[in-house]
Amino acid sequence: MRIRPVSSLQGEIHLPPDKSISHRYAILGAMATGTTRISNFSNSQDCQSTLDCLRKLGIRIRQSANEVEIESRGWREFQRPLESLDAGNSGTTMRLVSALLAASPFVSTIQGDESLNRRPMRRIIKPLTQMGARIEANNREYPPLRITGSQLQGIHYGLPVPSAQVKSCVLLAGMMAQGETTLVEEIPSRDHTERALPFFKVVLEREDHQLMVSGPASLKAAKMQIPGDFSAAVYFIMAALLIPDAEICLRRVGVNPSRTGLLTLLEQAGAAVEKTHFAEFNDEPVCNLRVRFRPEPLQRFPTEISGHWIPNLIDEIPVLAVLGTRLEQGLTIREAGELRKKESDRIHSVVVNLRNLGVRVEEFPDGFHIPPGQAIQGGKVQTFADHRIAMAFAIAGLIAKQPVELDNPSCVSVSFPDFFQRLQSIGSYTTQSG
Ligand code: S3P
Repeated sequence: MRIRPVSSLQGEIHLPPDKSISHRYAILGAMATGTTRISNFSNSQDCQSTLDCLRKLGIRIRQSANEVEIESRGWREFQRPLESLDAGNSGTTMRLVSALLAASPFVSTIQGDESLNRRPMRRIIKPLTQMGARIEANNREYPPLRITGSQLQGIHYGLPVPSAQVKSCVLLAGMMAQGETTLVEEIPSRDHTERALPFFKVVLEREDHQLMVSGPASLKAAKMQIPGDFSAAVYFIMAALLIPDAEICLRRVGVNPSRTGLLTLLEQAGAAVEKTHFAEFNDEPVCNLRVRFRPEPLQRFPTEISGHWIPNLIDEIPVLAVLGTRLEQGLTIREAGELRKKESDRIHSVVVNLRNLGVRVEEFPDGFHIPPGQAIQGGKVQTFADHRIAMAFAIAGLIAKQPVELDNPSCVSVSFPDFFQRLQSIGSYTTQSG
């Protein structure tokens, strides 16, 4: 796929439904008794992996257009899967569904694709084992996971990494365990699970950095609606900020503050972002965003991003690196070592590809530095089969001097199957296959 530089970008983009939220509502629906109805459910491969895993546990799922109906008799009735569960490329699927397997009285296996089978799982193995499950893994770390479930016991657990997947895994397990489960989260991560629980009639207590659930809980089916995915919106927001005369409109974008750190930084730096039509979908804030190009530089954008900002904008860092090439003061990312454990080693993937496109960049163990005053020249991009690398560098192609060629554009389907069509619809003739 070849992306050509464009001189303008105009229009409205239909965003995909939020992937993170889709996983959670599907899993909570499977744990609940009754029929959960979810509208605007993600059509990503990752969320299909979650639905496939739930089907193998005996849950009836009907999908029509973007509506999903999940019919369950509750988590106590999960059936022993006849074959291994397959989480595909999806870390969220593996880490959250493992909680269901840990609390079920049978032995099961969950595996992933080549990329997921290289991602760390001790972060969930440790708390689930402390709660009473037995989990075997490659080198006690990597999938496939062979999980012997049992009646779990509540725990008090301090999260060693700020990870919403680990937090959600322990909260889900806690709901099926005997007694109280308390989680301590020093640096906050996305809180979609916490916001969803009351809709499934689960009481969650939050106090400072602590979260508490009591089990065993009986979840009730709910009717849920999913906002547009902010992490997908970000590619278009960036494009609009970088291309002269650009103006784009995004409707019903999820703007949960635990996800929108990058938007906050951009607004503080003077980006032209107009928010209208505020609403709430099951306690998730949504609004429309209109983003316009502004000739003035983003002078107040931080020169270094680290600490508590990182979990809030972790998935946006690859495309933030593209913006970094245009910031007058350059850009440094630190304390983001978690990026090395994503669908690809995203520090390496960003650094290699910026260099492939003629940008100087320094690599650190926990981040990178892009010196000021550079331009993206163009060239070949290795996506490392990582959807966020493919989408971030497609945006780089729009502002490069020469075309940018992506080696494996189809990997975008794990989160945003229509990404290139959407891009084409607002910046005509930007892409070309072959
Ligand atoms: C996610 C949490 C984050 C994020 C991932 C989705 C989630 O991962 O990077 O894309 O849905 O909970 P970590 O929990 O590993 O930080």
